[in-house]
Amino acid sequence: MSNSTCPPSLIQSYLEELHAKYQLLRTGAVATYIPELGKADPEWFGICVVTCDGQVYQVGDTALEFTIQSISKPFSYGIALQDSGKEKILSKIWIEPSGEAFNSISLDPLGRPLNPMINAGAIATTGLVEGSTTRQKVHRILDTFSRYAGRSLTIDQAVSGSESATGHRNRAIAYMLRNFDIFTEDPLPSLEAYFQQCSILVNCLDLAFMGATLANNGIHPLTGQRAVVADYVENILSVMASCGMYDAAGEWLYNVGMPAKSGVGGGILAVLPGQLAVAVFSPLLDDHGNSARGIAVCRELSSRFKLHLFNSAKPGLSVIRHLTDATRTSSNRARPLEETALLSSHGSRVVILEIQGHLSFAATERVVRELHSRADAAFAVILDFSRVQHLDLVSNRILLDTFAALVGREI
Ligand code: DON
Repeated sequence: MSNSTCPPSLIQSYLEELHAKYQLLRTGAVATYIPELGKADPEWFGICVVTCDGQVYQVGDTALEFTIQSISKPFSYGIALQDSGKEKILSKIWIEPSGEAFNSISLDPLGRPLNPMINAGAIATTGLVEGSTTRQKVHRILDTFSRYAGRSLTIDQAVSGSESATGHRNRAIAYMLRNFDIFTEDPLPSLEAYFQQCSILVNCLDLAFMGATLANNGIHPLTGQRAVVADYVENILSVMASCGMYDAAGEWLYNVGMPAKSGVGGGILAVLPGQLAVAVFSPLLDDHGNSARGIAVCRELSSRFKLHLFNSAKPGLSVIRHLTDATRTSSNRARPLEETALLSSHGSRVVILEIQGHLSFAATERVVRELHSRADAAFAVILDFSRVQHLDLVSNRILLDTFAALVGREI
């Protein structure tokens, strides 16, 4: 079908409707506390959805670059986890939502920043990224962010200079962290790296790909490159879910239900693990410092397409595609008469289970339950895995242990 006759997909049309609707929303204000950000045009507005297999839906100003700002925080948290290890990270930065603004000056009773999404935790996080100089840290961060985005990203030096020149509060936070031995060395090189990390230029499409890489367990959907060790993806998404939207985090989880992060540059990124990412860019910010249009779009998208994390499908119910026995399965194979006789007398005790889809815990539990309920009466069980697309490590172990228990030996 040619483009002229092929109607746009339902999803594309819907994004266009959303964009037209919320272009009219003019509440909020452009951030000015970093003077360079004040130059943003309040009309800028882009929406982008990228699926885990790299399908892109986009509308509006999705190619326009802006600074990533606080959306950098979860990604640099992933780098710090890789570079310093989880134990050390947790000893320095806690993971409790603060219910406070992004720039709050606060520590938990053990003297740690409350979480890595507020500035105190994010500055400490940059401190735990490999490298002893600003340059080394920024190189590591830029390289990793580029893997997430699938292209080489750059830094807006004017914005980072503007933030450094006016970032007295962040400087106070950095010295507070030094006082509590979260930094045991001079915090300023890490603080400068933090300013530069926040000033990395992305567009809406980059952000959506960065999110889709997280949704895809750390692998970029198109380049196939790994951006973060898979084991840390759930840690990153957890802090986004609980703390990513600061003092609006609870309301966000309730209404939108996706791990997310906002930035004062006007970006918002929401990630639905295993499925997709949504990125919105609009520099008009609400009182919490989150993009007002971004919040409205994510709320509506989530409710329209049922994207809430807790609106879970029930994979366990559809995992068994077909259940039969050997008397009811035909074969092209010519058999000797005695085999055919054997099959018709005992075939009903040969259970055949065709399973399908992605085997995670719930689906595997369903298979195991079926196996146990058939095991006593069965002479043999044939499990057909040919339609299984994915088997995670936990499911693999559960199945092997079940087989071992059923045949009475270790596998
Ligand atoms: O630390 C700052 O003030 C900025 N570089 C980042 C703040 C930010 O994006 C807050 N998020 N909404």
